[in-house]
Amino acid sequence: MAERLVIDPITRIEGHLRIELETEGGKITKAWSETTQYRGLEEIVQGRDPRDVWAFVQRICGVCTSVHAIASIVAVENAIGSNPPEQARLIRDMVLGSQEVQDHVIHFYHLHALDFVNVASAAEGDPQAAVDFAKAIGSTWKGNTLERMTEVRDTVQGILDSGQLSIFTGGYWGHPDYRLPPEANLMAVAHYLDALEFQRSMIRIGTVFGGKNPHPNFLVGGMACSIDPNHTESINQVQVDQIGVWIAESLEFVKTCYVPDALAIAGVYKDYFDIGAAQNNYLAVGMSGATFAGDPADSDFTSAHTEVKAGVIFDGDLNNIQPFDPNKIEEWVHSAWYSYEGGDIGLKPSEGETTVAYTGPKPPYSWLADSDEYTWCKAPRYDGRAVQVGPLARVILAYARGHARTVEIVDDAAKQLGITLDQLNSTGGRILARAVECLTSAEILAEATFPTFVSNLKGGDIDVFDTTRWEPSSWPSKASGMSFVEVARGNLSHWVTIEGGKVARYQAVVPTTWLAGGRDADGQQGPYEESLAGNGEHPLVDPAQPLEPLRTIHSFDPCMSCAVHVLDPAGDELKAVES
Ligand code: NI
Ligand code: CA
Repeated sequence: MAERLVIDPITRIEGHLRIELETEGGKITKAWSETTQYRGLEEIVQGRDPRDVWAFVQRICGVCTSVHAIASIVAVENAIGSNPPEQARLIRDMVLGSQEVQDHVIHFYHLHALDFVNVASAAEGDPQAAVDFAKAIGSTWKGNTLERMTEVRDTVQGILDSGQLSIFTGGYWGHPDYRLPPEANLMAVAHYLDALEFQRSMIRIGTVFGGKNPHPNFLVGGMACSIDPNHTESINQVQVDQIGVWIAESLEFVKTCYVPDALAIAGVYKDYFDIGAAQNNYLAVGMSGATFAGDPADSDFTSAHTEVKAGVIFDGDLNNIQPFDPNKIEEWVHSAWYSYEGGDIGLKPSEGETTVAYTGPKPPYSWLADSDEYTWCKAPRYDGRAVQVGPLARVILAYARGHARTVEIVDDAAKQLGITLDQLNSTGGRILARAVECLTSAEILAEATFPTFVSNLKGGDIDVFDTTRWEPSSWPSKASGMSFVEVARGNLSHWVTIEGGKVARYQAVVPTTWLAGGRDADGQQGPYEESLAGNGEHPLVDPAQPLEPLRTIHSFDPCMSCAVHVLDPAGDELKAVES
């Protein structure tokens, strides 16, 4: 007899996600991914000056800060024919790259690790054993000292003694599937706290170039920050030196702390390389940070970071990479509370519609999935197929394209873990891929993007703005543009049509929409749903503590604020389980 289970809200994500499940005999048999929050950013920007839109759409999300602003200005530049100078593009690359590295580190330690690391057990860890454990897993992080581990153990003990677990309240600390020994939990909690410090420095790069964070300032045609090494009011030598230090520190943290920790945890939970497979289809326009104005195959301009060409992989066939064609992207609203003029069809984002048609129950409700419509999230498809986007898709594409550094890191990790490439399509694979790409991203920032920017500066290049297309009189009377950007959670595209100097149509196709969308008219599940219920083998031992499905959903790093583009305060109050 199938049992029904609702997890709502899923915590340690951004936004509101509800998962409804049917389980039988300790396995998940059916799953529904439900976005219970409506947003309407795309309607808000209609009729506005396209040069202002970035400031609105950047507010799609405070976690994925910067990324929607950059996607927006690039789409508008594509439409109006603006070509920003190289230094401006490099600054955007640094803002995007540092955001991405910071985001991955936060995701691993602060959002995901607690599915595997038992904070309560850390208090029982012997500090010297924690130092030894770190050494054994190859972590050379400077924080691995007896003094630090002792301090962290005492802090955790103090929190437990106080009876107020603060940010650690509500964890399933008694779940039998927490497998790390106390010293490993202690080390991981110490690194959790160190990562909080790290992420603060890392995100300051966006503050220097954009004036503030979150939501730095951007500019259609370039960047809003002027550079002059001799002035205190502009980006000067002192700030450039500081950015170099932050980038070097981030590479050190990723290399000596994050990557060894991810490998160690993945090794202890190795069965998760056989759990959580979603569709074996992958879409990416390049490595993380890759940015294109228009079709990547024929782009007016790109970021500096395009060593891996765009591509789509179907059925795990790495030897047969399909060329990426933006015309093959369509969004379905079959399972979503929207309606299209043309009925139950797929629509290209350039012709997209966002017409609300809520047919769900009045909250509070107990079960949504008996209806064909159960979410606010559209379901994007590529060539009619559900695809995975994100670190896993990018790493698989980079591997298939023969990107030497990616191949090297993946092969080493696979050897160490004793897994095959096929097993990357899994919960464990998504954790590993995020760590792999965080390392390549940090290296590219430190070894390519930042040095090129500095070298250009030394050559006197301080131009960051294309003045030729600023005035609307220089634009065509009607123009369309699109952008593709590889951001932390996957492929992001913005689509704009401008008429008479104003936005006539706007759509954003966001990574989490690709992943969290529901069933389409053909009954094809979205990747979240597939990862939980694709083969009927996903474990769920104790419905009162649904730790296993959380591990899998968190491996996608959900951002629901992004997935449905103004918060509806009338959310449901009925919570079967609070994760
Ligand atoms: Ni987001
Ligand atoms: Ca519908």
